[in-house]
Amino acid sequence: MIVTTAQLYKVAYGKYAIGAYNINNAEQTMGLFRGCMDSQAPFIIQISKGARKYTDKRILEALIRAAEEIFPDAIFAVHLDHGDEQTCYDCIESGFFSSVMIDASHEPFEKNVEITRRVVERAHAKGLSVEAELGMLGGVEEDIVVEEGHACLTDPDEAVEFIKLTGCDSLAAAIGTSHGAYKFKGQQSLHFDVIEKIRDKVAAAGLPPIPIVMHGSSSVPKEEVMRINAAGGQLDPDACGVNPAEYLPAAKLGVTKVNIDTDGRLVWTRVHREYFRDHPKEFDFRPPGKIFMDEYAKFIAEKNRLLGSAGQLEEVRKSIPG
Ligand code: G3H
Ligand code: 13P
Ligand code: ZN
Repeated sequence: MIVTTAQLYKVAYGKYAIGAYNINNAEQTMGLFRGCMDSQAPFIIQISKGARKYTDKRILEALIRAAEEIFPDAIFAVHLDHGDEQTCYDCIESGFFSSVMIDASHEPFEKNVEITRRVVERAHAKGLSVEAELGMLGGVEEDIVVEEGHACLTDPDEAVEFIKLTGCDSLAAAIGTSHGAYKFKGQQSLHFDVIEKIRDKVAAAGLPPIPIVMHGSSSVPKEEVMRINAAGGQLDPDACGVNPAEYLPAAKLGVTKVNIDTDGRLVWTRVHREYFRDHPKEFDFRPPGKIFMDEYAKFIAEKNRLLGSAGQLEEVRKSIPG
C-alpha cells in the first residue's frame, strides 16, 4: 500500500528511521520488497532523475505497481530523490508520488528559499510533502580543523529561517556525510551536535518538530569492498562510510529518513563480480540476478534492523486511517 511520506514520519519521528532506498530495475525492486517484508518494515522507495532516465520513468512506476500487487502487505511511500524544479512538478502532477525532494542547496540561500517555496506551494496543493536541502554535503577529512570541517554543515539558525520561509516538511541537512563510496578517510562520526541544535532551535522558534533527512548514509562495509576487489574490482580499500551503529542514536534526535543507495550498488557489484569470476563460461544473467535478489533482500532486512524500522509494520498499519 502506498501511503504518504508524512504518515510514515508521524509514526517514526524520534523513535526510529525509515530506510529510503533507491531503485533502478526489477531485481532491486523485488529484493527491496522482499527484504522489507522479511523484516516487517515500512520503507520509502526513492527514484532519482538518473533512474527515471535509465530505462523509462514508466517502467519504474509499473515495477512499483506490480510489486505492490505481489506484496499486498507492504507499506511504503514513493519519493523523488534530488529533484530539480521541473522534475518536481512532473512528479507532483503524475499522481504517483508521495513526496518530492527539491535540491536547490547549491544555490545561494535566498534563491534556494525562492525555488523551494514554489515547489512547496505546488506540492501541498496536491497533498504531497516536500523535502528540501540546506547546506552542502561533502567529504569531511578526519584531521581537518573543526572550523573548516563545519564549513559545509547546515547552520542550525539558517535552518530555522529556511523552514519558516519555505514551509518545507522535512529537511535534508548536511551533518557530516557525503554521497558515494568514498566518504571519509578513517572513521568519522556524524555531527550529532548539529542535529540536536536544529531540533532545539526549531522547538524554540515555536515550529513543529521537523524530520531530518540524512543523505549519504551508506556504511560502505570493508568486507564488501575487499570481496569486490578480490574479484577484480579496484575500489579504494580505505573507502569508509557512516557507522551503522549511529543510525538509531541519530533517529532518536529526529533523523527520520535515512537514504541508502551506494551500499546496495556494492551488493550488486560483489554478487556479479564473484559470480562471473567463479563461472567464467556463464553468460546467462539470471543465475547471478537470482543471487542478487536474495542478497539484496538480506541486506535491506539488516539495514532496517539497524534503523529500528524492522518489526514496525503492524504499528504503522494501525496508524493508517480507514
Ligand atoms: O544521491 C544520489 C543517489 O545515490 C542516486 O544516484 O543519481 O546515480 O541515480 P543516481
Ligand atoms: P549513499 O551514496 O551514501 O548511498 O547516499 C544515497 C543518497 O543520499 C540518496 O539520496
Ligand atoms: Zn542524496
